[in-house]
Amino acid sequence: MPETSTSGLHAAVIMDGNGRWAQRRGLPRVAGHRAGAETLRRVVEAAPSQGIAALTVYAFSSDNWQRPKDEVDALMKLFLRFLRREQRRCVENGVRVSVIGRRDRLPGLVAGAIAACEAATAEGGRLHLRLAVDYSSRDQILDAARRLERPATRDELAQSLGLPDVDLLIRTGGEQRLSDFLLWECAYAELIFTPRMWPDFTAADLENAVAEFYSRERRFGAVPAVVSSMG
Ligand code: FPP
Repeated sequence: MPETSTSGLHAAVIMDGNGRWAQRRGLPRVAGHRAGAETLRRVVEAAPSQGIAALTVYAFSSDNWQRPKDEVDALMKLFLRFLRREQRRCVENGVRVSVIGRRDRLPGLVAGAIAACEAATAEGGRLHLRLAVDYSSRDQILDAARRLERPATRDELAQSLGLPDVDLLIRTGGEQRLSDFLLWECAYAELIFTPRMWPDFTAADLENAVAEFYSRERRFGAVPAVVSSMG
């Protein structure tokens, strides 16, 4: 059994492939994002039964502002709808929602819905869902370092960043890169890349990814005997 860094797994997902999924069906890209939002709902439902305690998903990178305005507006509307619609279900199912990334460039309604959803779900103890919105890992690391005001230790910087290490990172859509997502936190994450487009990703795919995670030997740079004696 591999070591994990939280009481359950911290899984992170780069939800890629919405646009291609839609284009292959002759649909506008936004239809792919809509289908992607449904996938996210299903994955959130399935995560606790897979031993996942925290799930951090890349919903909108700081570089995504460069997309056409129509697509950005549609994504913001989708986030708003998701936060409003899912809030009650999250409370009922013990899902705590929080959002990481910059808030000052988000539309006021989205920022308001984030604050409301975070407050309403704060007590959720079954799963911690983090949505990364207007998120850049490099910027987060810079901000965390600036808050420390002096050269810091690893632990101090990690604490300033405020997120647990990632155990398992899944990227859908066939690309094999991190794209400025959780760069510090993924230092020892197990990486799983799948060609499946995000709207097609299922609870069974999640289960397979978790099984693949448990089949790997995590050594954190040590040798197997040392890691097993750390536990
Ligand atoms: C990347 O696919 C996906 C995004 C930039 C947006 C992710 C958003 C969702 C999954 C919508 C649901 C999220 C929430 C929080 C409601 P892409 O558009 O880059 O796909 P492509 O590589 O095929 O073009």
